[in-house]
Amino acid sequence: MRILVINGPNLNMLGIREPGIYGSDSYADLTTFIEKVCADRGVEADIFQSNHEGAIVDRIQAAYGAVDGIVINPAAYTHTSVAILDALKAVSIPAVEVHLSDVSKREDFRHISYAGMACERTYAGYGFDGYRLAIEYLIERHGK
Ligand code: DQA
Repeated sequence: MRILVINGPNLNMLGIREPGIYGSDSYADLTTFIEKVCADRGVEADIFQSNHEGAIVDRIQAAYGAVDGIVINPAAYTHTSVAILDALKAVSIPAVEVHLSDVSKREDFRHISYAGMACERTYAGYGFDGYRLAIEYLIERHGK
Protein backbone atom coordinates (compact mmCIF):
# COMPACT_ATOMS: atom_id res chain seq x y z
CA MET A 1 0.00 0.00 0.00
CA ARG A 2 1.19 3.50 -0.85
CA ILE A 3 -0.06 6.68 0.83
CA LEU A 4 0.54 10.23 -0.34
CA VAL A 5 0.76 12.84 2.43
CA ILE A 6 0.32 16.43 1.26
CA ASN A 7 1.06 19.47 3.40
CA GLY A 8 0.14 22.95 2.28
CA PRO A 9 1.54 26.44 2.76
CA ASN A 10 3.54 27.49 5.81
CA LEU A 11 3.66 23.98 7.27
CA ASN A 12 7.35 24.00 6.32
CA MET A 13 7.61 26.71 9.02
CA LEU A 14 6.47 24.42 11.83
CA GLY A 15 8.46 25.05 15.00
CA ILE A 16 8.88 28.71 14.00
CA ARG A 17 5.33 29.76 13.13
CA GLU A 18 2.91 30.45 15.99
CA PRO A 19 4.28 27.78 18.36
CA GLY A 20 1.42 28.46 20.79
CA ILE A 21 -0.93 27.04 18.15
CA TYR A 22 1.21 24.60 16.16
CA GLY A 23 3.80 23.51 18.73
CA SER A 24 7.58 23.65 18.78
CA ASP A 25 8.33 20.58 16.65
CA SER A 26 9.70 21.28 13.17
CA TYR A 27 8.50 20.16 9.74
CA ALA A 28 11.40 17.68 9.65
CA ASP A 29 10.07 16.25 12.93
CA LEU A 30 6.65 15.86 11.27
CA THR A 31 8.04 14.02 8.25
CA THR A 32 10.09 11.75 10.54
CA PHE A 33 6.91 11.02 12.53
CA ILE A 34 4.90 10.21 9.37
CA GLU A 35 7.68 8.02 7.94
CA LYS A 36 7.85 6.03 11.17
CA VAL A 37 4.07 5.56 11.35
CA CYS A 38 4.09 4.25 7.78
CA ALA A 39 7.23 2.09 8.15
CA ASP A 40 5.86 0.48 11.34
CA ARG A 41 2.72 -0.50 9.43
CA GLY A 42 4.46 -1.66 6.24
CA VAL A 43 3.08 1.20 4.17
CA GLU A 44 5.03 3.23 1.61
CA ALA A 45 4.81 6.98 2.17
CA ASP A 46 5.23 9.82 -0.34
CA ILE A 47 5.43 13.09 1.58
CA PHE A 48 4.95 16.35 -0.30
CA GLN A 49 4.85 19.96 0.88
CA SER A 50 4.22 23.07 -1.18
CA ASN A 51 3.34 26.69 -0.62
CA HIS A 52 1.72 26.80 -4.08
CA GLU A 53 -1.88 25.86 -4.83
CA GLY A 54 -1.18 24.76 -8.43
CA ALA A 55 1.71 22.54 -7.31
CA ILE A 56 -0.66 20.79 -4.89
CA VAL A 57 -3.22 20.32 -7.68
CA ASP A 58 -0.44 18.89 -9.91
CA ARG A 59 0.67 16.49 -7.16
CA ILE A 60 -2.89 15.24 -6.61
CA GLN A 61 -3.32 14.66 -10.35
CA ALA A 62 0.02 12.81 -10.51
CA ALA A 63 -1.24 10.48 -7.77
CA TYR A 64 -3.99 9.13 -10.04
CA GLY A 65 -3.45 5.39 -10.41
CA ALA A 66 -0.28 5.58 -8.30
CA VAL A 67 -1.40 5.71 -4.66
CA ASP A 68 -4.07 4.00 -2.56
CA GLY A 69 -4.86 6.90 -0.24
CA ILE A 70 -4.20 10.58 0.35
CA VAL A 71 -3.72 12.36 3.67
CA ILE A 72 -3.97 16.10 3.15
CA ASN A 73 -3.45 19.12 5.34
CA PRO A 74 -4.13 21.88 2.82
CA ALA A 75 -3.33 24.50 5.52
CA ALA A 76 -4.74 27.91 4.51
CA TYR A 77 -5.90 26.54 1.14
CA THR A 78 -8.38 24.43 3.11
CA HIS A 79 -10.56 27.49 3.45
CA THR A 80 -10.21 28.92 -0.05
CA SER A 81 -9.36 26.33 -2.67
CA VAL A 82 -12.05 24.93 -4.92
CA ALA A 83 -9.17 23.83 -7.20
CA ILE A 84 -7.83 21.42 -4.56
CA LEU A 85 -11.37 20.16 -3.86
CA ASP A 86 -11.91 19.53 -7.58
CA ALA A 87 -8.52 17.77 -7.93
CA LEU A 88 -9.38 15.40 -5.06
CA LYS A 89 -12.76 14.69 -6.65
CA ALA A 90 -11.14 14.19 -10.06
CA VAL A 91 -8.77 11.44 -8.94
CA SER A 92 -11.31 9.74 -6.63
CA ILE A 93 -8.60 8.41 -4.32
CA PRO A 94 -9.77 7.85 -0.71
CA ALA A 95 -8.67 10.99 1.12
CA VAL A 96 -8.52 12.13 4.74
CA GLU A 97 -8.15 15.73 5.93
CA VAL A 98 -5.84 16.59 8.82
CA HIS A 99 -5.29 19.80 10.77
CA LEU A 100 -2.83 20.17 13.60
CA SER A 101 -5.07 22.69 15.36
CA ASP A 102 -8.77 22.42 16.09
CA VAL A 103 -9.99 24.69 13.30
CA SER A 104 -13.58 24.49 14.58
CA LYS A 105 -12.53 26.44 17.69
CA ARG A 106 -10.65 29.15 15.78
CA GLU A 107 -11.72 32.11 13.60
CA ASP A 108 -14.96 31.74 11.63
CA PHE A 109 -13.10 31.77 8.29
CA ARG A 110 -11.38 28.52 9.33
CA HIS A 111 -14.71 26.75 9.81
CA ILE A 112 -15.25 26.15 6.10
CA SER A 113 -13.23 23.42 4.44
CA TYR A 114 -13.46 22.97 0.69
CA ALA A 115 -10.98 20.08 0.55
CA GLY A 116 -12.85 18.41 3.40
CA MET A 117 -15.88 18.04 1.11
CA ALA A 118 -13.88 15.44 -0.85
CA CYS A 119 -12.49 13.68 2.24
CA GLU A 120 -13.94 10.69 4.05
CA ARG A 121 -12.70 11.78 7.49
CA THR A 122 -11.26 14.85 9.20
CA TYR A 123 -8.89 14.77 12.17
CA ALA A 124 -8.35 18.25 13.61
CA GLY A 125 -6.77 19.28 16.88
CA TYR A 126 -4.68 16.17 17.53
CA GLY A 127 -1.33 17.65 16.48
CA PHE A 128 0.99 15.18 14.73
CA ASP A 129 -1.18 12.31 15.94
CA GLY A 130 -3.89 13.36 13.49
CA TYR A 131 -1.66 12.10 10.69
CA ARG A 132 -1.36 8.72 12.44
CA LEU A 133 -5.14 8.52 12.81
CA ALA A 134 -5.59 9.39 9.13
CA ILE A 135 -3.02 6.80 7.98
CA GLU A 136 -4.60 4.12 10.19
CA TYR A 137 -8.04 4.93 8.80
CA LEU A 138 -6.75 4.54 5.21
CA ILE A 139 -4.98 1.25 6.03
CA GLU A 140 -8.14 -0.11 7.65
CA ARG A 141 -10.25 1.04 4.71
CA HIS A 142 -7.81 -0.45 2.18
CA GLY A 143 -7.94 -3.81 3.94
CA LYS A 144 -11.70 -4.08 3.64
C1 DQA B 1 -3.93 24.27 9.68
C2 DQA B 1 -5.11 25.19 10.01
C3 DQA B 1 -5.30 26.23 8.93
O1 DQA B 1 -6.41 27.06 9.25
C4 DQA B 1 -4.07 27.10 8.81
O2 DQA B 1 -4.22 28.02 7.75
C5 DQA B 1 -2.82 26.31 8.67
C6 DQA B 1 -2.66 25.06 9.42
C7 DQA B 1 -3.64 23.27 10.81
O3 DQA B 1 -2.92 22.31 10.55
O4 DQA B 1 -4.09 23.44 11.95
O5 DQA B 1 -1.88 26.73 8.00
O6 DQA B 1 -4.26 23.52 8.52
